Amino acid sequence: MDVIQAIKERRSINFFETGKELADDKIGELLEIANLSPSSFNLQPWRVVVVKSAERKKVLRQCAFNQPKVEEASAVLIMIADPDAVEANVERMLDSWQKLGYMKAEMRETYKGMTQNLYGTVDSLKRKFFAIKNTALFAMNIMIAAKGIGLETHPMDGFDEGCIKKEFNIPADKIIPMLIAVGHLKTGVTLLPRAFRREIKEFVKFESY
Ligand SMILES: Cc1cc2nc3c(=O)[nH]c(=O)nc-3n(C[C@H](O)[C@H](O)[C@H](O)COP(=O)(O)O)c2cc1C
Repeated sequence: MDVIQAIKERRSINFFETGKELADDKIGELLEIANLSPSSFNLQPWRVVVVKSAERKKVLRQCAFNQPKVEEASAVLIMIADPDAVEANVERMLDSWQKLGYMKAEMRETYKGMTQNLYGTVDSLKRKFFAIKNTALFAMNIMIAAKGIGLETHPMDGFDEGCIKKEFNIPADKIIPMLIAVGHLKTGVTLLPRAFRREIKEFVKFESY
């Protein structure tokens, strides 16, 4: 499936085929593709907890306002934005840029300073925006790539973040922008037509707001 078709055919699926196993290899394939997502300074501030077992999906469903798809999907990805990724990843990112010829060694400190200026201190709002926007791009690529490899998805922000952090041992400083249910459309279900989209002329202006 080409990328345009995947974007056009992706839908948020409410009815998943229950009891359908999603192999770890397939989840790995999906995440490897999405991991090619762009990110600010290539800092990749995302983490994922894959919830597959019936028992853990039940717990997650309770944290997600009892949305049945959390339990019915083959797997649910807890998408985690990591504000600490600047410190955690900047050296390896610069190593890679240096090795590949993107920059000279003497530019390392300049680039480090730029990341601090742009993305603020680790507990700042700037840093949270940095982590969330990049993780959201990664999440979108997961949904498109899933469609491309024959899987369906459903993003969710209807959940209690504190509950998920507590139940899945996620540190307090991380942010959970969304969950993504992954699986297959339930046999016999026909989706309603896609709901309205605004006409682009309503929100696109050229040259000035
Ligand atoms: C970040 C995000 C959070 C969402 N949260 C929920 C949710 O908690 N529950 C739900 O039923 N749908 C949720 N949706 C799905 C939207 O309702 C859906 O994407 C929208 O209606 C457009 O439908 P489509 O994805 O089939 O094109 C969410 C979508 C996004 C992008």
